[in-house]
Amino acid sequence: MSNFHEWLSQKQAFVESLLEKNLPQTSDETHLNEAIKYSVLNGGKRMRSLLILAIAEIVEVPPNAIEKIICAVEFIHAYSLVHDDMPCMDNDDLRRGKLSCHKKFSESTALLVGDSLQSIAFSLLSSPSLQIKPENQLKIIHTLSNAIGIEGMAKGQALDINNTNKKISLDELIIMHQFKTGALINSACLMAVLASNNCDKNTLDIIDTYSKSIGLIFQIKDDILDKEASQESLGKTPGKDEKDNKATFLSLLGISKSKELAAKYYEEALKAIKPFGDKAYYLSSMAELIMTRSH
Ligand code: IPE
Ligand code: IPE
Ligand code: MG
Ligand code: MG
Ligand code: MG
Repeated sequence: MSNFHEWLSQKQAFVESLLEKNLPQTSDETHLNEAIKYSVLNGGKRMRSLLILAIAEIVEVPPNAIEKIICAVEFIHAYSLVHDDMPCMDNDDLRRGKLSCHKKFSESTALLVGDSLQSIAFSLLSSPSLQIKPENQLKIIHTLSNAIGIEGMAKGQALDINNTNKKISLDELIIMHQFKTGALINSACLMAVLASNNCDKNTLDIIDTYSKSIGLIFQIKDDILDKEASQESLGKTPGKDEKDNKATFLSLLGISKSKELAAKYYEEALKAIKPFGDKAYYLSSMAELIMTRSH
């Protein structure tokens, strides 16, 4: 299939069906499962899953492994958003155009939704039914756990809070974003390669470089959209970073330099995947989509 937009809508629908299938199927009197579903099936762009699927157009990945990796990544991402919106973090009432989890349910439920999604993610990845080499399955679990913890996403979120109301250097800002947003995107892409039974070091290195650039573009765009996009298209409260005095690419560099920096990382991402030739079509289209996204 050569039409990227056709590919996108087909894959987005596919991701939704996988997420639905792998979520708890029952509801209970605590509303925890209902809140978990509310927080996952609420209109995310599924960018990390689409990157995984674009990589699966280059390396062969067993369908069962793709399914579990996609769900694990989206569940971790959804958990990070639920916690990010809580009053003790960014205190945002709106997520994906709907009330954020703690507003719709309660703070204690939001906390437990995050805890539960994290444990479901690792349960899926450690499933004995994954059709990949056991040593690669372990590497996958190791990659994701490192990416979201004290040398990954959690550290990035801690730096984000710590850097609020502070003037930091560009290097410090880049490091914060590499942890906060980049690490999960990087691990999603690496896991897709690791799940391939013909995974090789060269492919891993290329995808590592590509996804690190993509992660930075992703957060630069997120910072720009916080300023430029409307609440309607963003589905979250715009202008929040400035209001909260967050350290962002915009507060440090301004709009036009932030866009220049995103363009530099875009060129780096495209350069990295050149050795894949025509097979990189979906990956380069994803880079362009992440650069040009309006929400
Ligand atoms: C938003 O991520 C938070 C960041 C890590 C920058 P996304 O823009 O991918 O959010 P959804 O999943 O589409 O809602
Ligand atoms: C969130 O970053 C990053 C994580 C959830 C790990 P932001 O705070 O910038 O995300 P939004 O703008 O609220 O989506
Ligand atoms: Mg935040
Ligand atoms: Mg936030
Ligand atoms: Mg943001």
